[in-house]
Amino acid sequence: MLVVGASGSIGRLAVAQALHAGFTTTALIRDANQASLFPEGTRVVVGEPTQADTLADALDGVNGIVFTQGTYRDDDAEQVNYRPVHAIVDALTSPARIALMTALGVTKPTPGHDWKRRGERLVRASGLPYTIVRPGWFDYNEPDEHHLVMLQGDTRWAGNSSDGVVSRQQIAEVLVASLANDKADHKTFELVAEKGEAQPDLTPVFAALQPDDEATLDGPKDRNNLPPSAEPERVVGELDALRDRF
Ligand SMILES: NC(=O)c1ccc[n+]([C@@H]2O[C@H](COP(=O)([O-])OP(=O)(O)OC[C@H]3O[C@@H](n4cnc5c(N)ncnc54)[C@H](OP(=O)(O)O)[C@@H]3O)[C@@H](O)[C@H]2O)c1
Repeated sequence: MLVVGASGSIGRLAVAQALHAGFTTTALIRDANQASLFPEGTRVVVGEPTQADTLADALDGVNGIVFTQGTYRDDDAEQVNYRPVHAIVDALTSPARIALMTALGVTKPTPGHDWKRRGERLVRASGLPYTIVRPGWFDYNEPDEHHLVMLQGDTRWAGNSSDGVVSRQQIAEVLVASLANDKADHKTFELVAEKGEAQPDLTPVFAALQPDDEATLDGPKDRNNLPPSAEPERVVGELDALRDRF
């Protein structure tokens, strides 16, 4: 499997977790100096995740992709939050299972959130099997918060850790676990951790979630506040071009 944004704080953990889970793992990074970040046995590909030659190499033999790249800024949000998703879904020559990390609160309109949400929609439209994980606030966990909770509807919009917390390691574990779990397919959820024991198996937690709504291309209970009819023409065009690609 391939980790996009592998140099990032979640990406690095996702690479280690994927290797630990027994996946043949490729880390896609943009700076060759970051190659030493990964455990022995990681295949490293260096290049931009929007470049055709890089992607031909990175996607060779890959049947699972974890997207962990992301920005907090608005001015590069399209480039970071959306373009790699578009380029990779477009470049795939055979189906691959997708795990896409966006963010809790992504349906609260901001330029950064909207580009993440457009990435989510491309994945949902593609016909690929996928899971979309919207993590809560990183690293505010208390030491006894091991119990994972998956929420839907993206109703927590305070914009601070009162919305829910989750550790980077927990996020990496759920992203990687989703790739090999049929009950996680076509599901979108916010991920937080609460007081209690870790679940030994996430299958029942994934199974309890409502699948995504194919008609709206949003999460099942998401607010309808980014209507496709009001989207920029090129965004609509790119979505239509990748619709049911697989
Ligand atoms: N903080 C929170 O509580 C929280 C909660 C939920 C979601 N999030 C989301 O998490 C994301 C940040 O994740 P993080 O903390 O892991 O950040 P990070 O450590 O800074 O990692 C960001 C990753 O994105 C990659 N990237 C940056 N610019 C890129 C570009 N132009 N093209 C492709 N990849 C690019 C980086 O690669 P390089 O090393 O090559 O630049 C790096 O791998 C944000 O999108 C944020 O909204 C944060």
